[in-house]
Amino acid sequence: MELSVIVPTFNEAPNVAELVRRLGDALRGLEAEVVFVDDSTDDTPAVVMAVAAEAPLPIRLIHRERPTGGLGGAVMAGVDAAASDLCVVMDGDLQHPPEKIRELVSEHERSGADVVVASRYAGGGTSGGLSSRLRVLVSSASTAVTKAMFPIRLHGCSDPMTGFFLVDRRVVDGEALRPRGFKILLEILARQNLRVSEIPFDFADRHAGESKASLRQGFRFLTQLGYLRFGKMSLFAIIGGLGAVANLLIMAALIAFGLDYVWAAVIAAEATIIGNFLLIERFVFRDMRDAASGVWVRFAKSFSFNNAEALVRIPVIYLLVETWHVSSILAAALTLIVAFIVRFVFHSLVVYAP
Ligand code: GDD
Ligand code: MN
Repeated sequence: MELSVIVPTFNEAPNVAELVRRLGDALRGLEAEVVFVDDSTDDTPAVVMAVAAEAPLPIRLIHRERPTGGLGGAVMAGVDAAASDLCVVMDGDLQHPPEKIRELVSEHERSGADVVVASRYAGGGTSGGLSSRLRVLVSSASTAVTKAMFPIRLHGCSDPMTGFFLVDRRVVDGEALRPRGFKILLEILARQNLRVSEIPFDFADRHAGESKASLRQGFRFLTQLGYLRFGKMSLFAIIGGLGAVANLLIMAALIAFGLDYVWAAVIAAEATIIGNFLLIERFVFRDMRDAASGVWVRFAKSFSFNNAEALVRIPVIYLLVETWHVSSILAAALTLIVAFIVRFVFHSLVVYAP
């Protein structure tokens, strides 16, 4: 099998025959199958079976009695069951033109990318099929925010929310994915360092039936974003917190050995900075190491940043206390919070930059 086309469906009965007809035409000559992953409560499964009997290409139906993970879970179930490693994922309502599939495949062959995205926002693409002004606004705003949150991983992708893409199954770490709701491509791209390329396409109107997007899906998406992004950040915070405790213990030990407290503080701080680096290398940014610069360069960046940060923090506290009359503890706490965020951003964008 050269290609598997994965189509998640939820109550799409009136669209199945037309979709299969257009897929048959578009994929003629290719050794391709279609895998419907269905969570419907209507007669979609029966329609799929009837259409399959007459279809010009092999059609399989996976009907999930106990659906998990919504649309994203359905897509991953389809990818798992696919006969080919090369999978194209598309909606079942003909908003994604089957005629574009060959272009996805040839772009994959040309670029060697792990994922080829069919984008509404790449040059020449359109999002006409977004049914209302509000959805256009929500879509472009959430795309902008998402791209800002994952500047590196989504660098080459103008449309991380699209449901139309090609993926080489061999590169996807299915274990790491936590599909929830509609944005499965984002889940795939945000969790791993993959090579992405894209082609533009025109997002068409629905052939029949209604969209299953809802406010609830919107909230799912927000939790997904939070989890994807701050999952790393909280790990970073925990390691930072452990570091602070270690810092104090080392300092106390050195003083007990008779060292002057200033020297004890300096040595404890440097030891903590080094220990921290080793821990975040291992636990936080592990997945970004391969694409980043060498370990000594990473260390040099991290080490100088942390020292500079410690040096800058003192005069800032002084300033806050003396000119703004903030209490010294509050001033120290404020600088620590800001420093934490800046440190995290610096490490994700600079130290581990691909
Ligand atoms: N199996 C399964 N389970 N399929 C589902 C489910 C589910 O819970 N929910 C929706 N689907 C199927 C629909 O039947 C359709 O084939 C496809 O997923 C997309 O659902 P639509 O209801 O058509 O959603 P949309 O058009 O509003 O959203 C599409 O465009 C968005 C970008 O604007 C999807 O492609 C989204 O993934 C995409 O983000
Ligand atoms: Mn749709």
